[in-house]
Amino acid sequence: MQNFESFLLNHLPVSKSIHPTYEQALQKMLVAGGKRFRPELLLGVVKAYNPLLIEGAMHAAYAVELLHTYSLIHDDLPAMDNSPLRRGEPTLHVAFDEVTAILVGDALNTYSFEVLSNAPFSDYTKIYLIRELASSGGLNGMVLGQAIDCYFENRPLGIEDVRILHTNKTAKLIACSLKMGAIIVGKEKLAEELYEFGIKLGLLFQIQDDILDVTQSSHEAGKLTNNDEAKNSFVTLLGLSATLKEADSLADELILELNSFDDKLKNELSSLLLQYINRHR
Ligand code: IPE
Ligand code: IPE
Ligand code: MG
Ligand code: MG
Ligand code: MG
Repeated sequence: MQNFESFLLNHLPVSKSIHPTYEQALQKMLVAGGKRFRPELLLGVVKAYNPLLIEGAMHAAYAVELLHTYSLIHDDLPAMDNSPLRRGEPTLHVAFDEVTAILVGDALNTYSFEVLSNAPFSDYTKIYLIRELASSGGLNGMVLGQAIDCYFENRPLGIEDVRILHTNKTAKLIACSLKMGAIIVGKEKLAEELYEFGIKLGLLFQIQDDILDVTQSSHEAGKLTNNDEAKNSFVTLLGLSATLKEADSLADELILELNSFDDKLKNELSSLLLQYINRHR
């Protein structure tokens, strides 16, 4: 992902002002790294069908990463998961203060759409992409998931409701990343199919994240682990071994679906997808 990393470094949010730490805070969690899973998904779809569009697609991949990074900054706030560590670094409310963390989240959220609006695509494509990112990342997507996640702390949900929670807080943005790739290459039918696949992939991704919360140290994960006892996760509701079985069966289902992709997509995305599909094994 060297290209994506250099695109990110060349497009960091900049703000020269009398504020002594604002710009540094805006950039800190972006440059701290992370797996860049969502941008890789988007760019993988574009590479499979039209590598000439990769440079433009960087704007869209970066927009997704900006929105995701904002969601992590707010997720770590004292009022939400109250976590001191993210991407191996002190969280913004620890390194700076809570006001800074809230406002940097707000700034990255809106900057995401500014970046997308500047992408070198037709207005039709840009509005399509903006609508998809807003809808998966916003009030009936990631934000709804986070609202349910926090409201139902210490109030156990049924497993079907947890699926809905995970679908919103995590899966929709992952599905949206694949879909945005397909929109960029002008494949609207594929966009819908990849969204459905991405919802399952994102559900598995969150189940794996919940597994890693109890199996990894904070140092290994680069974020606070063993922090989900009050949460509705598959692990808290079903226990670790039943959750591992659930993850296995979702993973097997996804591998079957992956094998039905056309050759271009399979060649481009298989190794990335298998790496994540098998992450818990
Ligand atoms: C963490 O996402 C939040 C979840 C949706 C589980 P990632 O695991 O993709 O975090 P980074 O981007 O690698 O830091
Ligand atoms: C958060 O889920 C999902 C987001 C929308 C940010 P988690 O709360 O489990 O994510 P981590 O474990 O803190 O990364
Ligand atoms: Mg959370
Ligand atoms: Mg969290
Ligand atoms: Mg987690």
